[in-house]
Amino acid sequence: MSERVRRAVCPGSYDPVTHGHLDVVVRAAALHDEVVVAVLHNPAKQGTFPVAERVAFVERAVAAAGLADTVRVEEFANRLLVDVCRDVGADVVVKGLRGGTDFAYELPMARMNRHLTGVETVFLPGDPSLEHVSSSLVKEVVRYGGDVSGLVPDEVRDALTARLRGDG
Ligand code: PNS
Repeated sequence: MSERVRRAVCPGSYDPVTHGHLDVVVRAAALHDEVVVAVLHNPAKQGTFPVAERVAFVERAVAAAGLADTVRVEEFANRLLVDVCRDVGADVVVKGLRGGTDFAYELPMARMNRHLTGVETVFLPGDPSLEHVSSSLVKEVVRYGGDVSGLVPDEVRDALTARLRGDG
């Protein structure tokens, strides 16, 4: 008898991916057979990076972490997360929580998703060393000339510098 594959979804905008995101993806991969990193986006809204570039950044970081066999990255436009989970055959969503503000934001979504299809959300406590790291703060720091080395993959840091400081 074949055993059921335990597949989790790590959803987000990933605009761009940070080491905070990657910490959660790596830990989710340790707890499941497969992880789908779902890059969710609205084509009508322009992000900082085109979605294909966001996906490529995550893919290369996942490969660098040696997880290319268990973690795949896919983009989804204008989709409910519960429908993404159903499409990829996942019954668990994994999210990281940096603190109480994240929890307050995530709890109603987790409850709504469970209401819609029964999909469960598992929260992982964010690594305290990355508590201050978010895509939006990283972008602001780069925009005004700060250094985000160690907070995002090096290629993301360089791409942010080129894009947000207009020298690339
Ligand atoms: O990285 P973000 O922006 O915090 O990710 C938020 C995201 C994309 C995971 C969330 O907005 C989401 O799940 N969007 C998909 C649409 C959806 O299902 N909305 C209802 C949630 S209850």
